[in-house]
Amino acid sequence: MALSESISDTVGGTPLIRVKSPGDVDVLAKVEWFNPGGSVKDRPALRMILKGERTGELTEDRVLLDSTSGNTGISYAMLCASRGYRVKIVLPANASWERKKMLRALGAEIVESDPHEGSDGAIRLAHELKEEDPERYFMPDQYNNPENWRAHYETTGPEIWEQTSGEVTHFVSGIGTGGTITGVGKRLKELEPDVRVVGVEPDDPLHGIEGLKHIETSIKPSVLDESIVDEVIHVSTEDAYDEGRRLTREQGLLVGQSSGAAMAACRELAGRIETGTIVTVFPDGGEKYISTQYLDDED
Ligand SMILES: Cc1ncc(COP(=O)(O)O)c(C=O)c1O
Repeated sequence: MALSESISDTVGGTPLIRVKSPGDVDVLAKVEWFNPGGSVKDRPALRMILKGERTGELTEDRVLLDSTSGNTGISYAMLCASRGYRVKIVLPANASWERKKMLRALGAEIVESDPHEGSDGAIRLAHELKEEDPERYFMPDQYNNPENWRAHYETTGPEIWEQTSGEVTHFVSGIGTGGTITGVGKRLKELEPDVRVVGVEPDDPLHGIEGLKHIETSIKPSVLDESIVDEVIHVSTEDAYDEGRRLTREQGLLVGQSSGAAMAACRELAGRIETGTIVTVFPDGGEKYISTQYLDDED
């Protein structure tokens, strides 16, 4: 492996792993916790930072400010620590303990938003902070920054195409900002218009699947291009957690909650198509949820 000049150079290029599943349908997962910050979010975070540097909006005098359910914040904090920028992250007060600890360890300042308002509360508070002192901050705004979906269009999508030798027939992805599904979906459809793009959302506005959004009742991110999405599968928190535990215990894939949701959707889809190659994304690993009930159902 070639020498990397900084941690930024190690983002992307994650493995695609075959997931054991019943029937004749192949289910393959991009295991995104192989990214240096431990999640899929390293890809868009890097691209948004590079754009900020190019346009001169991100300088050493400014603080990078954004709202995030946690993973994007960790990516920003890691990349900015290596590039010499300060970071302020707004996240709901009930985000997992591990995420907050990691952010602080990487030198980020944390502002907690009302836990009852979920990720939308964090979005609103981040915008308020920016409006109070616009010159002080560079706000990538992952929900509305096209560099988010472009990161997946330029990297995740082509990686999937190459790793499946163009055999992918279905792409299944959880929807948070919509960056993954929009970028990968666009790229795969350009390469093969018959690829079916399936979104995964929680089945209830009040859910426990960190990273995913119940779009119908949320602020719709402009990054999400719904015309790319052929179908949405709704998954309950219980099914997502069950699948996450199963992947962990039966396949040694210590996944986060949204990977469990993606797997639940893949299982449903695999049950109704006869043949095909389903590719999904497992956005992060389970380490950040160890302090919660998610992987530990016996306490
Ligand atoms: C754990 C997790 N899963 C899924 C997603 C959704 O990905 P996207 O924002 O690309 O829609 C995120 C995004 O924050 C996430 O943190």
